[in-house]
Amino acid sequence: MNILIRNGRVVRPESISADDIWIAGEQIRAVEEKIDPHGDVRFDQVIDAEGMYVLPGIIDAHTHYLLHSRGTVTADGFYSGSVAGAIGGVTTAIDFANQEGEKSLLEAAQARIDASQREMVIDFGLHQCIFSMQGDMDQQLQELKAEGITAVKIFTTYKPEGYFIGEKGLKELFRSCGRLGMMITAHCEDDPLMEEIARKYEEELHPPRLHPVLRPAEAEYRAVRMLGELSRETETPLYIVHLSSGRGLEAVDELRAQGVRLAVETTPHYLMLTNELLTGPEARKYIMTPPLREAKDNEALWQGLVQDKIQLVATDHCAFTPEQKLQSDDCRTVLPGIPGTGELLPLIYTAGVASGRFDIGRMVSLLSETPARLFGMYPRKGRLQAGSDADLVLFDPGRSWTIRNDTCRSAAGYTPYDGFQAAGMPVLTMLRGRIIAREGEFFGSRGGGQFVQAGPSELFQD
Ligand code: URP
Ligand code: ZN
Ligand code: ZN
Repeated sequence: MNILIRNGRVVRPESISADDIWIAGEQIRAVEEKIDPHGDVRFDQVIDAEGMYVLPGIIDAHTHYLLHSRGTVTADGFYSGSVAGAIGGVTTAIDFANQEGEKSLLEAAQARIDASQREMVIDFGLHQCIFSMQGDMDQQLQELKAEGITAVKIFTTYKPEGYFIGEKGLKELFRSCGRLGMMITAHCEDDPLMEEIARKYEEELHPPRLHPVLRPAEAEYRAVRMLGELSRETETPLYIVHLSSGRGLEAVDELRAQGVRLAVETTPHYLMLTNELLTGPEARKYIMTPPLREAKDNEALWQGLVQDKIQLVATDHCAFTPEQKLQSDDCRTVLPGIPGTGELLPLIYTAGVASGRFDIGRMVSLLSETPARLFGMYPRKGRLQAGSDADLVLFDPGRSWTIRNDTCRSAAGYTPYDGFQAAGMPVLTMLRGRIIAREGEFFGSRGGGQFVQAGPSELFQD
């Protein structure tokens, strides 16, 4: 099957070019100035992209589909979550496998890959969560690496859930990952500080507005610093997930000044929403960890993106229905997490590009090329060039629309961005040469996504 995409504006981080794209089977064969639709190649389909940007498929580098946690499971399984992403221009998601009891890490990861493979409509990668050091870790990590899982995830908090990994385990893990060239990704909130604060509020009610008090930006700062020290000591690069605050970014600056090699991710909600939402009637729908911060934190994070202190934006999509969120009115036990994968591209285009904060090339870097490079998928993913997978999005910058609960395709059934005026719309999503979404309708297939084996992160390269 040969497909030609004509007349679009092809976006790469460094350029926008008026090129046509020839897709042969699942891959891009050529990106050239003018490809004749009636020349030597017989095209089965010609798509006119006049007026559109042609973007590489978006990589949502942080999703939680079918997350079993806190006695329940997220509203989005692999299918509904990835359909929501596909309609919004996401062609690859990176999700997580939990460490599970006596299973080896490889067994846990393989089970997760098999389950994803049956349901995902977009391609996917996987990070392995590590909650404790058990068995021969070097051996287990090596097995993971050979399977194409080259990053692990750790948490400096969530003790009751069993996710917290203590300092001794952390040090061993950093050493192992450093030796093996695997990346550590980390949820950064300092548990000792949060426990100290929690004791002061023990006797009081815990409404949503208390959440940021219990989990302050200072906790993020301390955890980033602590992990950064370990990273420096063990010479193992570190990736910080969902950075939420200006204070957290200060820690990043300080560590970089000491030569620590770090990559940083933030999310649309830490860029665009504030903790004022935690005082409103719908407050519980906006609870996630770390909590929403203040307008000055939003701005510090935007500046971080502009100045390349933050390298990528992903969603931390972790969808629960309002019914699930409303089961508790105690902010400590409201199920943490919000949906967002379907809105990632229009949100960052509108608030980042259309608002003039950065250009569309920078957006492509943040949402596609950099995640591919950092997570060992480049150049198969993340770039429109000959030889890469034909994953792309036609994005219409002239189409303004309102994000609404009923435009959100996540099984959450609501979006935290309800009412947001978007300045452009993803109108077609292609995954490896197949159109999987067009004009808000899904055309892909259950199980049509493939596991992408990751190579080493570019964070390890000098
Ligand atoms: O509240 C959140 N972020 N839920 C998802 C799990 C995590 O911490 O990333
Ligand atoms: Zn997290
Ligand atoms: Zn997460």
